[in-house]
Amino acid sequence: MTFSLLDFDTWSASQLALVEQALSQWVSADAPAGLGEAMRYAVLDGGKRLRPLLVLGACEAAGGHAAAALRAACAVELIHAYSLVHDDMPCMDNDVLRRGKPTVHVHFGEALALLAGDALQALAFELLTPGDNSVPPAMQADLCRLLAGAAGGNGMAGGQAIDLASVGQPLSEPELRAMHTLKTGRLLQASVMMGAACAHKPLPPAAQAALAEYGAAIGLAFQVVDDILDVTSDSAVLGKTAGKDAASDKPTYVSLMGLERSQALADELLADAHRALLESDLPNVSRLRALAELVVKRKS
Ligand code: IPE
Ligand code: IPE
Ligand code: MG
Ligand code: MG
Ligand code: MG
Repeated sequence: MTFSLLDFDTWSASQLALVEQALSQWVSADAPAGLGEAMRYAVLDGGKRLRPLLVLGACEAAGGHAAAALRAACAVELIHAYSLVHDDMPCMDNDVLRRGKPTVHVHFGEALALLAGDALQALAFELLTPGDNSVPPAMQADLCRLLAGAAGGNGMAGGQAIDLASVGQPLSEPELRAMHTLKTGRLLQASVMMGAACAHKPLPPAAQAALAEYGAAIGLAFQVVDDILDVTSDSAVLGKTAGKDAASDKPTYVSLMGLERSQALADELLADAHRALLESDLPNVSRLRALAELVVKRKS
């Protein structure tokens, strides 16, 4: 047990170092008029990098193409960073603190924050489509399709639209689940499926379906835990303003069912994720198992 925990820590430290180095190289400061600087500020020096780790963990489980997976890991993180920049803007959640620093619009102004988000989104797809044959074209297309589907109108952006339309509205559990699944769950699930899409040999359909189920479970669990931490943690630990959901009258799992039942739901979703991994019948799922634990047991 201790050995496998240490093993995960060693693995994740090495993967995180690769991801940081790649992000720093790919998000260059050369976009004009301060835009590059705003993009780097949004992406570098902060963030748990959970989505990149899911891509790399799923690639390991699927037996995949490491260079493609590193591109996919960074691309997902760029979409996530862009979503945070826009989420924090005054027209959305109006937050001043993110990853322990002033938000991008506070530091650079709203117009540059908007553009930094736009440019990060475009850069994500540029990373997925290298012109040097280092990633097979069919794999490039699969990765783009998965990421676009998770980021767009029926993914993160759609979920954010529901979030904004739901301020002050008590949602039913199925409505809240649908909102959380879109705004947060889809991108986490896509991280897993993109890692799987880097496989050298296509996975059996049953393993694909099991990984999709795993991704759906941790995706929803992630936002349930985000709702919990907004109430139970503090701004210094979170690196973002705690207590914002109640202050902004957002419907959350905590407002719907209270802390205890929200935590029980997160634990149930963790059990669902573990079950799906068993059903996948893939031999190398230890990273994904540890990452599911991290999603539910994290403190920030
Ligand atoms: C926060 O995501 C936004 C949500 C989708 C709930 P993370 O908690 O993964 O944020 P970082 O990347 O670690 O800053
Ligand atoms: C954000 O949800 C989900 C995104 C798509 C960015 P939240 O608004 O709850 O995220 P935080 O709490 O600000 O990180
Ligand atoms: Mg929000
Ligand atoms: Mg927010
Ligand atoms: Mg939140």
